[in-house]
Amino acid sequence: MAKVYVFDHPLIQHKLTYIREKNTGTKEFRELVDEVSTLMAFEITRDMPLEEIEIDTPVQKTNSKVLSGKKMGIVPILRAGIGMVDGILKLIPAAKVGHVGLYRDPETLKPVEYYAKFPGDIEERDFIVVDPMLATGGSAIEAINSLKKRGGKSIKFMCLIAAPEGVEALKEAHPDVDIYIAALDEMLNEKGYIVPGLGDAGDRLFGTK
Ligand code: URA
Repeated sequence: MAKVYVFDHPLIQHKLTYIREKNTGTKEFRELVDEVSTLMAFEITRDMPLEEIEIDTPVQKTNSKVLSGKKMGIVPILRAGIGMVDGILKLIPAAKVGHVGLYRDPETLKPVEYYAKFPGDIEERDFIVVDPMLATGGSAIEAINSLKKRGGKSIKFMCLIAAPEGVEALKEAHPDVDIYIAALDEMLNEKGYIVPGLGDAGDRLFGTK
């Protein structure tokens, strides 16, 4: 069963408060999302495997640890997920970045893929799928379907704020995908917004309405 991790580090919680605040402007919002994404990337990479190599310090030979795991991939869900990519790349600069674009079918209300582009060596990478908001879970589920369909095997999902409904739906659809969040909010409202949430993450990141 998928595990759910809530990152309650004080720096993440502090910055998240100003991300939520409606008077935070676009520039500051974008910077804060970037910073929180970096801090979350630090936490999410805690289980990366290490191996020992021999090096020469100026004093003597010694064994010291370096990362030995698979290569990484980041997959933002368009468009708001883009706001989290640079923050993660600061810590994992060699990661490749795929993209998934989804729209909501007006009749079925289900997310439909309109764009997908992933690194060629998809089966060899550990992926983090990112979207600031996990609301109903529909987009996250479909984005992960899209990645798995093309060979993605090792996948984590990371968001800033999640609704309990989204967490449950994602856990059920993808029990092999652990979920990393900065805050678990109360619920979804009738318009599909997370409450208390932060409003529309894409609009706030890009200054649109
Ligand atoms: N997407 C958003 O940007 N905000 C929400 O509250 C829910 C989904």
